Amino acid sequence: MALSFFSKNKKAIQARCRDDYPTKMRLKYAPYYHAMEAQNGTTVTLDGRDVIMLSSNDYLGLSFHPKVVEAARAAILKWGTSTNGARISNGSRSFHLELEAKLAAFLGREACHVHAAGYLSCMSSVASFAQKGDVIFADKNIHSCLWDGIRLSMATVERFSHNNPDDLREVIAQTNTDAPKMLVMEGVYSMEGHIARLPEIAEIAEENGLFSVLDDAHGFGVLGRQGRGTVDSFGLNDKIDVICGSMSKSLASVGGFVAASNEVIDYLRSHSKQTTFSAALTPAQAAASMAALDVMQTEPQHLERLWANTKKYKAILKHLGFDTWESETPAVPIVLGSKERVYPFWKALLDRGVFTVMSIAPAVPAGKDLIRTAVSAMHTDEQLEKIADALAYAMKKL
Ligand SMILES: Cc1ncc(COP(=O)(O)O)c(C=O)c1O
Repeated sequence: MALSFFSKNKKAIQARCRDDYPTKMRLKYAPYYHAMEAQNGTTVTLDGRDVIMLSSNDYLGLSFHPKVVEAARAAILKWGTSTNGARISNGSRSFHLELEAKLAAFLGREACHVHAAGYLSCMSSVASFAQKGDVIFADKNIHSCLWDGIRLSMATVERFSHNNPDDLREVIAQTNTDAPKMLVMEGVYSMEGHIARLPEIAEIAEENGLFSVLDDAHGFGVLGRQGRGTVDSFGLNDKIDVICGSMSKSLASVGGFVAASNEVIDYLRSHSKQTTFSAALTPAQAAASMAALDVMQTEPQHLERLWANTKKYKAILKHLGFDTWESETPAVPIVLGSKERVYPFWKALLDRGVFTVMSIAPAVPAGKDLIRTAVSAMHTDEQLEKIADALAYAMKKL
């Protein structure tokens, strides 16, 4: 029987999936989507062998904290596993409101809204507030969720050089318009580990009346008082309009948050498609986040240990002569410069029992192909020594 027009179209998409070059390469070299059989803190079991996890974002090491684990367990017993729908249709639960109030207070904001993924929170922090005709000034290196928010908003985008206030000033000067303007940036850049040059950038935002959105997925829990984040670390809380972030990193859960003024959050709850048409954060996720937030404020040793480990890890990398892209935080790239160097290095680390993740262009700028690593407060001294040995071994394979 002859193929109908419609079935030919369908076949074209199936062929796209089958013939895709990046997919073929990924399946051939299998660098991603490894299936670990077990996990205990920073140790995971892969193919029957224990390896050290060095690419997770569990910065404070709270994902195995007894209070966090117990809170998630108790929440499931009380509330079940899911609320099975969007909050606008079948309601919020008291734990959503409790978590939002706690996060808002911690971040010094009037209000907060939580989503089932950080990706949704950050995307909606841009897409809900900007619209066609507006201009968005975006740091060139922002996360994919923020780019998606920009695209969805249909606003005009003007990129400025990564973390470069002078370039931001120039780009603004060249954009001669009275349209509403937004600034989109990160607090700590996830790949590079750079801290935003917030004092200068916030001043420019203020001078030019930019509505500012800052994604602090990697600054929350890591910088500022008790881990309040990048904005707090600079004492600039009144200068940034929206702080969004993820609960899958320092909060040892999953989900995301948007924190801002009452009127901004009320507007988000009416206009954000990611908010109105997506199911609510689950009871276990909310409870784990709340418990982790409590631990952050009552057990300072985790933040102290995180920075002590970061210092030790960076000293190891410096001693071995690696390029870490001037990372200032526990998110530490090892820049190797080409995909030909990245793969054998990653493989050598794994052979020596250290699990990392590769990031190659176009995910990073050309020539910045890297191994992305992140230190946790949970890494032991013994693990850091093993990591040092593995790095020295991998270096010889280059
Ligand atoms: C900077 C940044 N923003 C947002 C996200 C999305 O967060 P989530 O993984 O919780 O959806 C990530 C995750 O990697 C991130 O690095």
